[in-house]
Amino acid sequence: MKSFEEKAQDAIQNPQNMGEMEDADSVGTVGAADCGDMMRMWVKFKEKDGKKLIDKASFQAFGCQTALAVASMATEMLKGKSIEEAQEMGVEDLSGDLGKLPPMKIHCGEMVQDALREALAGGAPEAQPEGTPKESNTLLSDMNSEPTRKKLKIVFE
Ligand code: FES
Repeated sequence: MKSFEEKAQDAIQNPQNMGEMEDADSVGTVGAADCGDMMRMWVKFKEKDGKKLIDKASFQAFGCQTALAVASMATEMLKGKSIEEAQEMGVEDLSGDLGKLPPMKIHCGEMVQDALREALAGGAPEAQPEGTPKESNTLLSDMNSEPTRKKLKIVFE
């Protein structure tokens, strides 16, 4: 059985959905306070049977290989999920075939999760009303105040 590192390497060899999405409906950007890495996720929605579903997701990462591997897995698994389903996905769900992240790498997965939640919040404010506490927000808790968070949003050219 492959180790986590081997599986992450495999994912990085051929990352899925990497890069800016021109026609995205929503975007979320977060930074990991621990390591200074950044992740941006784009989401495009579609309507199916009157329900809003994720058509596709893509990402750009200035981060470690684990974050990249998780984002690659996550953006594949998000296809066809409803906003509610996507919001409920924890780090382990988003990591997919990579399996459980080593303790030292959990914050890397959390960065992906936070970028996704930011993107979902932007795309569907009604699904995440103002003041909804974010879970697993170790990244955001360090940059908790809204003005600080806004300043941390970086536009990638
Ligand atoms: Fe920074 Fe992994 S070490 S996201």
